Amino acid sequence: MTWSPRSWREKPVLQMPNYKDQAALDRVIGELSARPALVFAGEARRLRKQLADVTAGNAFLLQGGDCAESFKEFSTEGVRDTFRVLLQMAVVLTFAASKPVVKVGRIAGQFAKPRSADMETRDGVSLPSYRGDSVNDAAFTPESREPNPERLIRAYDQSASTLNLLRAFASGGYADLNNVHQWTLDFVKDSPAAERYAETASRISEALDFMKACGVGRDSAPSLESVDFFTSHEALHLPFEEALTRRDPNSGRWYATSAHMIWIGERTRQLDHAHVEYAQGIANPVGVKCGPTMTPDVLLPLIDALNPNNEAGRLVLITRMGANNVREKLPALARAVTQAGKNVVWSSDPMHGNTVKTGNGYKTREFDKVLNELEGFMDVLYAEGAYPGGVHFEMTGRDVTECVGGAKTVTEADLASRYHTHCDPRLNADQALDMAFRIAESLKRVRANNSGAHAA
Ligand code: TRP
Ligand code: MN
Repeated sequence: MTWSPRSWREKPVLQMPNYKDQAALDRVIGELSARPALVFAGEARRLRKQLADVTAGNAFLLQGGDCAESFKEFSTEGVRDTFRVLLQMAVVLTFAASKPVVKVGRIAGQFAKPRSADMETRDGVSLPSYRGDSVNDAAFTPESREPNPERLIRAYDQSASTLNLLRAFASGGYADLNNVHQWTLDFVKDSPAAERYAETASRISEALDFMKACGVGRDSAPSLESVDFFTSHEALHLPFEEALTRRDPNSGRWYATSAHMIWIGERTRQLDHAHVEYAQGIANPVGVKCGPTMTPDVLLPLIDALNPNNEAGRLVLITRMGANNVREKLPALARAVTQAGKNVVWSSDPMHGNTVKTGNGYKTREFDKVLNELEGFMDVLYAEGAYPGGVHFEMTGRDVTECVGGAKTVTEADLASRYHTHCDPRLNADQALDMAFRIAESLKRVRANNSGAHAA
Protein backbone atom coordinates (compact mmCIF):
# COMPACT_ATOMS: atom_id res chain seq x y z
CA MET A 1 0.00 0.00 0.00
CA THR A 2 1.39 3.42 -0.88
CA TRP A 3 1.04 6.40 1.41
CA SER A 4 -1.38 9.23 0.68
CA PRO A 5 -2.92 11.89 2.92
CA ARG A 6 -5.94 9.58 3.22
CA SER A 7 -4.23 6.19 3.53
CA TRP A 8 -4.79 6.34 7.31
CA ARG A 9 -8.42 5.52 6.48
CA GLU A 10 -7.40 1.92 5.71
CA LYS A 11 -6.11 1.39 9.26
CA PRO A 12 -7.74 0.89 12.65
CA VAL A 13 -8.30 4.28 14.22
CA LEU A 14 -8.91 5.27 17.85
CA GLN A 15 -10.26 8.49 19.37
CA MET A 16 -12.40 9.54 16.38
CA PRO A 17 -15.61 11.48 16.98
CA ASN A 18 -18.80 9.75 15.82
CA TYR A 19 -20.25 12.16 13.30
CA LYS A 20 -23.89 11.40 12.59
CA ASP A 21 -23.87 13.20 9.27
CA GLN A 22 -20.93 11.82 7.31
CA ALA A 23 -21.83 13.89 4.24
CA ALA A 24 -21.61 17.09 6.30
CA LEU A 25 -18.14 16.07 7.50
CA ASP A 26 -17.04 15.36 3.93
CA ARG A 27 -18.32 18.78 2.82
CA VAL A 28 -16.31 20.51 5.55
CA ILE A 29 -13.20 18.50 4.71
CA GLY A 30 -13.65 19.53 1.08
CA GLU A 31 -13.93 23.16 2.09
CA LEU A 32 -10.83 22.98 4.31
CA SER A 33 -8.87 21.32 1.51
CA ALA A 34 -9.41 24.47 -0.53
CA ARG A 35 -8.28 26.81 2.23
CA PRO A 36 -4.72 28.18 2.31
CA ALA A 37 -2.02 26.30 4.19
CA LEU A 38 -1.53 27.66 7.72
CA VAL A 39 2.22 27.06 7.69
CA PHE A 40 4.67 26.41 4.89
CA ALA A 41 7.00 23.56 4.08
CA GLY A 42 10.07 25.77 4.24
CA GLU A 43 9.17 26.75 7.81
CA ALA A 44 8.78 23.13 8.86
CA ARG A 45 12.16 22.40 7.31
CA ARG A 46 13.66 25.28 9.27
CA LEU A 47 12.29 23.78 12.48
CA ARG A 48 13.75 20.41 11.50
CA LYS A 49 17.14 22.03 11.12
CA GLN A 50 16.85 23.64 14.55
CA LEU A 51 15.75 20.35 16.08
CA ALA A 52 18.74 18.66 14.46
CA ASP A 53 20.86 21.10 16.48
CA VAL A 54 19.00 19.95 19.59
CA THR A 55 19.67 16.31 18.70
CA ALA A 56 23.35 17.16 18.49
CA GLY A 57 23.23 18.76 21.94
CA ASN A 58 23.78 22.28 20.63
CA ALA A 59 20.35 23.77 21.31
CA PHE A 60 17.43 23.33 23.69
CA LEU A 61 13.73 22.84 22.84
CA LEU A 62 11.05 24.83 24.67
CA GLN A 63 7.51 23.76 23.83
CA GLY A 64 4.47 25.05 25.69
CA GLY A 65 0.93 26.33 25.70
CA ASP A 66 -2.61 25.42 26.60
CA CYS A 67 -3.75 21.88 27.22
CA ALA A 68 -6.57 22.77 24.83
CA GLU A 69 -7.34 26.04 23.12
CA SER A 70 -10.92 27.20 23.33
CA PHE A 71 -13.26 29.25 21.18
CA LYS A 72 -14.64 31.24 24.11
CA GLU A 73 -11.31 32.16 25.70
CA PHE A 74 -9.71 33.32 22.47
CA SER A 75 -8.31 36.85 22.67
CA THR A 76 -5.35 38.92 21.51
CA GLU A 77 -4.26 39.38 25.12
CA GLY A 78 -4.37 35.64 25.79
CA VAL A 79 -2.15 34.84 22.81
CA ARG A 80 0.20 37.71 23.63
CA ASP A 81 0.54 36.69 27.28
CA THR A 82 1.35 33.07 26.44
CA PHE A 83 3.82 34.26 23.83
CA ARG A 84 5.57 36.62 26.21
CA VAL A 85 5.94 34.09 29.00
CA LEU A 86 7.49 31.74 26.46
CA LEU A 87 9.86 34.57 25.48
CA GLN A 88 10.79 35.13 29.11
CA MET A 89 11.42 31.43 29.62
CA ALA A 90 13.48 31.35 26.43
CA VAL A 91 15.57 34.28 27.62
CA VAL A 92 16.26 32.60 30.96
CA LEU A 93 17.18 29.31 29.30
CA THR A 94 19.28 30.87 26.54
CA PHE A 95 21.17 32.89 29.12
CA ALA A 96 21.76 29.95 31.45
CA ALA A 97 22.62 27.34 28.86
CA SER A 98 24.44 29.64 26.43
CA LYS A 99 22.65 27.71 23.73
CA PRO A 100 19.91 28.74 21.33
CA VAL A 101 16.41 27.83 22.47
CA VAL A 102 14.03 26.45 19.85
CA LYS A 103 10.64 28.02 20.55
CA VAL A 104 7.54 25.97 19.80
CA GLY A 105 4.05 26.91 20.96
CA ARG A 106 1.38 24.38 21.78
CA ILE A 107 -0.93 26.79 20.04
CA ALA A 108 -2.81 27.73 16.86
CA GLY A 109 -4.36 24.29 16.41
CA GLN A 110 -4.47 22.48 19.75
CA PHE A 111 -8.22 21.84 19.69
CA ALA A 112 -8.84 18.08 19.65
CA LYS A 113 -8.60 15.98 22.81
CA PRO A 114 -8.36 12.22 23.37
CA ARG A 115 -10.75 10.83 25.97
CA SER A 116 -10.76 7.67 28.07
CA ALA A 117 -14.37 6.86 27.11
CA ASP A 118 -16.64 7.63 24.14
CA MET A 119 -19.56 8.47 26.40
CA GLU A 120 -19.88 10.37 29.65
CA THR A 121 -22.65 9.55 32.12
CA ARG A 122 -24.06 11.99 34.65
CA ASP A 123 -27.06 11.18 36.83
CA GLY A 124 -28.05 8.34 34.53
CA VAL A 125 -27.77 10.46 31.36
CA SER A 126 -25.17 9.38 28.78
CA LEU A 127 -23.84 11.83 26.19
CA PRO A 128 -20.80 11.81 23.89
CA SER A 129 -17.62 12.85 25.71
CA TYR A 130 -16.27 16.34 25.13
CA ARG A 131 -13.47 15.95 22.56
CA GLY A 132 -12.22 19.51 22.26
CA ASP A 133 -13.68 22.66 20.74
CA SER A 134 -13.02 21.54 17.17
CA VAL A 135 -15.41 18.62 17.75
CA ASN A 136 -18.14 19.58 20.24
CA ASP A 137 -18.95 21.86 23.18
CA ALA A 138 -18.14 20.98 26.79
CA ALA A 139 -21.63 21.83 28.16
CA PHE A 140 -23.47 18.67 29.20
CA THR A 141 -26.49 18.89 26.88
CA PRO A 142 -27.34 16.68 23.89
CA GLU A 143 -27.01 19.61 21.42
CA SER A 144 -23.64 20.75 22.80
CA ARG A 145 -22.13 17.31 22.88
CA GLU A 146 -23.17 16.30 19.37
CA PRO A 147 -19.99 16.39 17.20
CA ASN A 148 -20.47 19.19 14.67
CA PRO A 149 -18.15 19.28 11.64
CA GLU A 150 -18.68 23.03 11.19
CA ARG A 151 -16.56 23.51 14.31
CA LEU A 152 -13.52 22.39 12.28
CA ILE A 153 -13.88 25.51 10.13
CA ARG A 154 -13.97 27.63 13.24
CA ALA A 155 -10.85 25.88 14.58
CA TYR A 156 -9.12 26.57 11.27
CA ASP A 157 -10.14 30.25 11.39
CA GLN A 158 -9.00 30.69 14.97
CA SER A 159 -5.71 28.98 14.16
CA ALA A 160 -5.20 31.36 11.24
CA SER A 161 -5.90 34.42 13.41
CA THR A 162 -3.65 33.10 16.16
CA LEU A 163 -0.84 32.45 13.70
CA ASN A 164 -1.24 35.92 12.29
CA LEU A 165 -0.77 37.37 15.76
CA LEU A 166 2.16 35.12 16.54
CA ARG A 167 3.92 36.03 13.30
CA ALA A 168 3.45 39.72 14.09
CA PHE A 169 4.71 39.31 17.66
CA ALA A 170 7.68 37.22 16.55
CA SER A 171 8.95 39.53 13.85
CA GLY A 172 7.17 42.87 14.25
CA GLY A 173 9.37 44.26 17.01
CA TYR A 174 7.70 42.85 20.12
CA ALA A 175 10.25 40.04 20.52
CA ASP A 176 13.23 42.40 20.12
CA LEU A 177 15.75 41.53 22.85
CA ASN A 178 15.97 45.24 23.64
CA ASN A 179 12.44 44.83 25.08
CA VAL A 180 13.61 42.19 27.55
CA HIS A 181 12.42 44.29 30.52
CA GLN A 182 9.02 45.04 29.00
CA TRP A 183 7.86 41.42 28.91
CA THR A 184 7.28 41.37 32.65
CA LEU A 185 3.62 40.83 33.32
CA ASP A 186 1.96 43.06 35.88
CA PHE A 187 0.85 40.33 38.21
CA VAL A 188 4.24 38.67 38.44
CA LYS A 189 6.08 41.90 39.19
CA ASP A 190 6.23 41.24 42.92
CA SER A 191 7.18 37.56 42.87
CA PRO A 192 10.60 35.98 43.50
CA ALA A 193 10.69 34.64 39.94
CA ALA A 194 9.98 38.12 38.58
CA GLU A 195 12.80 39.56 40.68
CA ARG A 196 15.22 37.00 39.32
CA TYR A 197 13.96 37.74 35.85
CA ALA A 198 14.56 41.47 36.29
CA GLU A 199 18.15 40.67 37.30
CA THR A 200 18.75 38.50 34.25
CA ALA A 201 17.10 41.11 32.04
CA SER A 202 19.41 43.80 33.41
CA ARG A 203 22.48 41.72 32.67
CA ILE A 204 21.23 41.16 29.14
CA SER A 205 20.55 44.88 28.63
CA GLU A 206 24.00 45.66 29.89
CA ALA A 207 25.52 43.15 27.49
CA LEU A 208 23.48 44.61 24.62
CA ASP A 209 24.63 48.15 25.48
CA PHE A 210 28.21 46.97 25.55
CA MET A 211 27.81 45.28 22.18
CA LYS A 212 26.21 48.43 20.77
CA ALA A 213 29.15 50.49 21.98
CA CYS A 214 31.39 48.05 20.15
CA GLY A 215 29.45 48.57 16.96
CA VAL A 216 27.31 45.42 17.10
CA GLY A 217 23.67 46.43 17.02
CA ARG A 218 20.49 46.13 15.04
CA ASP A 219 22.11 46.54 11.65
CA SER A 220 24.91 44.08 12.12
CA ALA A 221 22.91 41.57 14.18
CA PRO A 222 19.29 41.45 12.98
CA SER A 223 18.72 38.22 14.91
CA LEU A 224 18.46 40.31 18.10
CA GLU A 225 15.24 41.84 16.83
CA SER A 226 13.07 38.82 16.16
CA VAL A 227 12.54 35.17 16.97
CA ASP A 228 11.59 32.08 15.05
CA PHE A 229 8.40 30.91 16.67
CA PHE A 230 6.83 27.60 15.62
CA THR A 231 3.42 26.05 16.25
CA SER A 232 2.45 22.51 17.21
CA HIS A 233 -0.48 20.38 18.30
CA GLU A 234 -1.51 16.77 18.69
CA ALA A 235 -2.49 15.47 15.24
CA LEU A 236 -5.50 13.66 16.62
CA HIS A 237 -8.31 14.68 14.26
CA LEU A 238 -7.13 12.91 11.12
CA PRO A 239 -9.84 14.17 8.71
CA PHE A 240 -8.80 17.72 9.63
CA GLU A 241 -5.09 16.93 9.23
CA GLU A 242 -5.77 15.20 5.92
CA ALA A 243 -7.51 18.31 4.58
CA LEU A 244 -4.47 20.43 5.41
CA THR A 245 -1.84 18.03 4.07
CA ARG A 246 -0.24 19.50 0.97
CA ARG A 247 2.54 18.53 -1.39
CA ASP A 248 5.44 20.95 -1.38
CA PRO A 249 6.25 21.79 -4.99
CA ASN A 250 9.93 22.40 -4.23
CA SER A 251 10.77 19.10 -2.58
CA GLY A 252 7.85 17.02 -3.86
CA ARG A 253 7.23 15.90 -0.27
CA TRP A 254 3.98 15.97 1.70
CA TYR A 255 3.69 18.31 4.66
CA ALA A 256 1.13 18.81 7.38
CA THR A 257 0.37 22.51 6.95
CA SER A 258 -1.82 22.74 10.06
CA ALA A 259 1.31 23.33 12.19
CA HIS A 260 5.08 23.20 11.93
CA MET A 261 5.30 20.22 14.24
CA ILE A 262 2.67 17.67 15.20
CA TRP A 263 2.77 14.92 17.76
CA ILE A 264 1.13 11.56 18.32
CA GLY A 265 -0.45 11.04 21.72
CA GLU A 266 0.14 8.24 24.18
CA ARG A 267 -3.25 6.70 23.33
CA THR A 268 -2.89 6.61 19.55
CA ARG A 269 0.72 5.56 18.99
CA GLN A 270 0.03 1.94 17.91
CA LEU A 271 2.42 0.98 15.11
CA ASP A 272 -0.22 -0.45 12.74
CA HIS A 273 -2.88 2.18 13.43
CA ALA A 274 -4.07 5.27 11.59
CA HIS A 275 -2.22 8.02 13.49
CA VAL A 276 1.20 6.47 12.91
CA GLU A 277 0.28 5.80 9.26
CA TYR A 278 -0.57 9.48 8.79
CA ALA A 279 2.62 10.74 10.45
CA GLN A 280 4.80 8.38 8.40
CA GLY A 281 4.04 10.21 5.17
CA ILE A 282 4.57 13.82 6.19
CA ALA A 283 7.97 15.47 6.35
CA ASN A 284 7.36 17.72 9.38
CA PRO A 285 9.05 17.17 12.70
CA VAL A 286 6.97 14.64 14.61
CA GLY A 287 6.71 14.04 18.34
CA VAL A 288 5.67 10.84 20.08
CA LYS A 289 4.46 10.82 23.66
CA CYS A 290 6.05 8.06 25.73
CA GLY A 291 4.30 7.12 28.96
CA PRO A 292 5.31 4.70 31.70
CA THR A 293 4.05 1.65 29.79
CA MET A 294 6.37 2.32 26.82
CA THR A 295 9.03 -0.38 26.37
CA PRO A 296 12.08 -0.60 24.10
CA ASP A 297 10.52 -3.32 21.96
CA VAL A 298 7.59 -1.01 21.18
CA LEU A 299 9.66 2.16 20.89
CA LEU A 300 12.38 0.99 18.50
CA PRO A 301 10.03 -0.23 15.73
CA LEU A 302 8.06 2.99 16.13
CA ILE A 303 11.23 5.04 15.68
CA ASP A 304 12.08 3.05 12.54
CA ALA A 305 8.58 3.49 11.16
CA LEU A 306 8.56 7.25 11.72
CA ASN A 307 12.17 7.98 10.88
CA PRO A 308 13.46 5.18 8.62
CA ASN A 309 16.48 7.19 7.48
CA ASN A 310 17.43 8.13 11.05
CA GLU A 311 17.44 11.84 10.18
CA ALA A 312 18.24 14.23 13.02
CA GLY A 313 15.48 16.78 13.63
CA ARG A 314 12.61 14.57 12.49
CA LEU A 315 11.67 12.83 15.73
CA VAL A 316 11.05 14.14 19.24
CA LEU A 317 10.40 11.63 22.00
CA ILE A 318 8.26 13.38 24.59
CA THR A 319 8.39 11.41 27.83
CA ARG A 320 5.53 11.74 30.33
CA MET A 321 6.27 9.17 32.98
CA GLY A 322 5.23 10.77 36.25
CA ALA A 323 7.67 11.84 38.93
CA ASN A 324 7.38 8.46 40.62
CA ASN A 325 8.18 6.48 37.45
CA VAL A 326 10.73 8.44 35.51
CA ARG A 327 13.85 7.19 37.30
CA GLU A 328 12.67 3.61 36.99
CA LYS A 329 11.19 3.53 33.48
CA LEU A 330 13.26 5.96 31.44
CA PRO A 331 16.73 4.32 31.71
CA ALA A 332 15.79 1.26 29.63
CA LEU A 333 14.34 3.43 26.87
CA ALA A 334 17.29 5.80 26.83
CA ARG A 335 19.76 2.93 26.77
CA ALA A 336 17.98 1.12 23.93
CA VAL A 337 17.72 4.26 21.79
CA THR A 338 21.33 5.23 22.41
CA GLN A 339 22.65 1.75 21.75
CA ALA A 340 20.69 1.55 18.51
CA GLY A 341 22.26 4.87 17.49
CA LYS A 342 18.91 6.53 16.85
CA ASN A 343 18.87 10.30 16.32
CA VAL A 344 16.10 11.70 18.48
CA VAL A 345 15.35 14.73 20.60
CA TRP A 346 14.53 13.73 24.15
CA SER A 347 11.99 16.10 25.64
CA SER A 348 10.21 15.96 28.99
CA ASP A 349 6.50 16.54 29.43
CA PRO A 350 6.43 16.67 33.25
CA MET A 351 2.73 17.59 33.33
CA HIS A 352 0.66 14.61 32.17
CA GLY A 353 2.09 11.97 34.50
CA ASN A 354 1.51 14.15 37.54
CA THR A 355 -2.19 14.96 37.51
CA VAL A 356 -4.08 14.40 40.77
CA LYS A 357 -7.56 15.15 42.08
CA THR A 358 -7.82 17.20 45.27
CA GLY A 359 -10.28 16.60 48.10
CA ASN A 360 -12.42 19.44 46.79
CA GLY A 361 -12.62 17.86 43.35
CA TYR A 362 -10.13 19.89 41.30
CA LYS A 363 -7.73 18.28 38.87
CA THR A 364 -4.34 19.75 39.74
CA ARG A 365 -0.58 19.24 39.50
CA GLU A 366 2.02 19.98 42.14
CA PHE A 367 4.83 22.27 41.12
CA ASP A 368 7.36 20.16 43.05
CA LYS A 369 6.24 16.92 41.37
CA VAL A 370 6.57 18.56 37.96
CA LEU A 371 10.04 19.76 38.87
CA ASN A 372 10.93 16.36 40.28
CA GLU A 373 10.05 14.62 37.02
CA LEU A 374 12.14 17.15 35.08
CA GLU A 375 15.14 16.57 37.30
CA GLY A 376 14.72 12.80 37.06
CA PHE A 377 14.55 13.12 33.29
CA MET A 378 17.81 15.07 33.17
CA ASP A 379 19.63 12.80 35.62
CA VAL A 380 18.63 9.65 33.77
CA LEU A 381 19.52 10.90 30.30
CA TYR A 382 22.90 12.26 31.34
CA ALA A 383 23.64 9.01 33.16
CA GLU A 384 22.81 7.09 29.95
CA GLY A 385 25.02 9.33 27.86
CA ALA A 386 22.04 10.96 26.14
CA TYR A 387 21.12 14.64 25.96
CA PRO A 388 18.01 15.96 27.77
CA GLY A 389 17.15 18.32 24.96
CA GLY A 390 13.80 19.83 25.75
CA VAL A 391 10.72 20.45 27.82
CA HIS A 392 7.00 20.43 27.03
CA PHE A 393 4.64 22.35 29.31
CA GLU A 394 0.97 23.01 29.67
CA MET A 395 1.02 26.65 30.66
CA THR A 396 -0.65 29.97 30.15
CA GLY A 397 0.36 33.60 30.38
CA ARG A 398 -2.67 34.27 32.54
CA ASP A 399 -2.78 34.48 36.33
CA VAL A 400 -4.71 31.26 36.87
CA THR A 401 -4.72 29.02 39.94
CA GLU A 402 -4.71 25.50 38.50
CA CYS A 403 -1.40 23.97 39.62
CA VAL A 404 -0.39 24.13 43.28
CA GLY A 405 2.98 25.30 44.62
CA GLY A 406 5.60 27.52 43.04
CA ALA A 407 7.44 30.51 44.43
CA LYS A 408 4.28 32.56 44.96
CA THR A 409 2.60 29.57 46.49
CA VAL A 410 -0.80 28.53 45.17
CA THR A 411 -2.50 26.31 47.75
CA GLU A 412 -5.32 23.80 47.32
CA ALA A 413 -7.67 26.33 48.87
CA ASP A 414 -6.67 28.87 46.19
CA LEU A 415 -7.65 26.61 43.29
CA ALA A 416 -11.26 27.79 43.36
CA SER A 417 -10.35 31.44 42.83
CA ARG A 418 -9.11 31.39 39.20
CA TYR A 419 -9.46 27.85 37.90
CA HIS A 420 -10.18 28.56 34.22
CA THR A 421 -8.97 25.54 32.29
CA HIS A 422 -11.63 23.44 30.61
CA CYS A 423 -9.09 20.69 30.24
CA ASP A 424 -5.88 19.96 32.22
CA PRO A 425 -4.39 22.28 34.89
CA ARG A 426 -1.75 24.65 33.50
CA LEU A 427 1.23 26.39 35.07
CA ASN A 428 0.46 30.09 35.41
CA ALA A 429 2.87 32.76 34.18
CA ASP A 430 4.71 32.96 37.46
CA GLN A 431 5.02 29.19 37.88
CA ALA A 432 6.20 28.84 34.29
CA LEU A 433 8.90 31.47 34.73
CA ASP A 434 9.93 29.91 38.04
CA MET A 435 10.16 26.56 36.24
CA ALA A 436 12.48 28.05 33.62
CA PHE A 437 14.89 29.14 36.36
CA ARG A 438 14.82 25.68 37.93
CA ILE A 439 15.51 24.03 34.57
CA ALA A 440 18.36 26.45 34.01
CA GLU A 441 19.82 25.42 37.38
CA SER A 442 19.41 21.72 36.62
CA LEU A 443 21.04 22.12 33.24
CA LYS A 444 24.01 23.79 34.87
CA ARG A 445 24.18 21.28 37.71
CA VAL A 446 24.06 18.16 35.55
CA ARG A 447 26.52 19.68 33.15
CA ALA A 448 28.92 20.48 36.00
CA ASN A 449 28.60 16.95 37.44
CA ASN A 450 29.10 15.48 34.05
CA SER A 451 32.24 17.39 33.17
CA GLY A 452 33.54 16.48 36.63
CA ALA A 453 32.97 12.82 35.86
CA HIS A 454 34.82 13.12 32.55
CA ALA A 455 37.75 14.88 34.19
CA ALA A 456 38.10 12.20 36.85
N1 TRP B 1 16.78 35.63 17.66
C1 TRP B 1 17.51 35.14 18.81
C2 TRP B 1 16.79 33.91 19.41
O1 TRP B 1 15.67 33.65 19.06
C3 TRP B 1 17.68 36.21 19.90
C4 TRP B 1 16.41 36.72 20.48
C5 TRP B 1 15.71 37.79 20.06
C6 TRP B 1 15.73 36.17 21.60
N2 TRP B 1 14.61 37.98 20.85
C7 TRP B 1 14.59 37.01 21.81
C8 TRP B 1 15.96 35.08 22.46
C9 TRP B 1 13.66 36.69 22.80
C10 TRP B 1 15.04 34.81 23.44
C11 TRP B 1 13.90 35.60 23.63
O2 TRP B 1 17.39 33.20 20.19
MN1 MN C 1 -3.38 17.91 28.64
